[in-house]
Amino acid sequence: MHKDLESILVGEQELNDIVKTLAADIDRDYGDKDWLMVGVLKGSILFMADLMKAMENDFKIDFVVVSSYGSGTESTGRVNVLKDVSQSVEGMDILIVEDIIDSGNTLHFLVRYFYAKGASSVKIVTLFDKPDRRKVEIPVDYVGKVIPDEFIVGYGLDYDEKYRTLPYVGILKPEVYTE
Ligand code: PRP
Repeated sequence: MHKDLESILVGEQELNDIVKTLAADIDRDYGDKDWLMVGVLKGSILFMADLMKAMENDFKIDFVVVSSYGSGTESTGRVNVLKDVSQSVEGMDILIVEDIIDSGNTLHFLVRYFYAKGASSVKIVTLFDKPDRRKVEIPVDYVGKVIPDEFIVGYGLDYDEKYRTLPYVGILKPEVYTE
């Protein structure tokens, strides 16, 4: 375990099981139709890669980069699109892939953003959900695991751009972010 962690919250085997279950659910619901999976960088990168590999059906992929946090730990409520999808979403069924839902601001914005661009449907899959932190209610279609309000890192999730490459998810020691 990384020295900055106080414990592991979700280990590699559990992550693998969660991803397999979500992949089967999405495969079942989307079937073989033409649809678009949109990853929200950077946090979703490992989750989305593993999710895609675990799915049977083919689909298109794209990415957005949005900013809401800066380098701090509190959401500002403002969301800016720093990198947009690189194709038309007119008439497309979109599944947004997130690593975590916290305040809900990012997804509240993105769902409306893609509908405004003409998407036929916009759904959400998130690896983790922290409902205790929610400020905006949003319907979430697929949730990997509901987690408590702890500061977690790893498997794509960062603190100050660190720890994203860990293959498991751990709880950061408070002294790391309060120093
Ligand atoms: C995180 C996470 C979500 C968002 C969730 O991204 O990946 O996109 O915050 O928070 P919210 O529900 O309060 O909007 P972050 O801005 O930290 O960027 P990153 O994905 O590059 O780590």
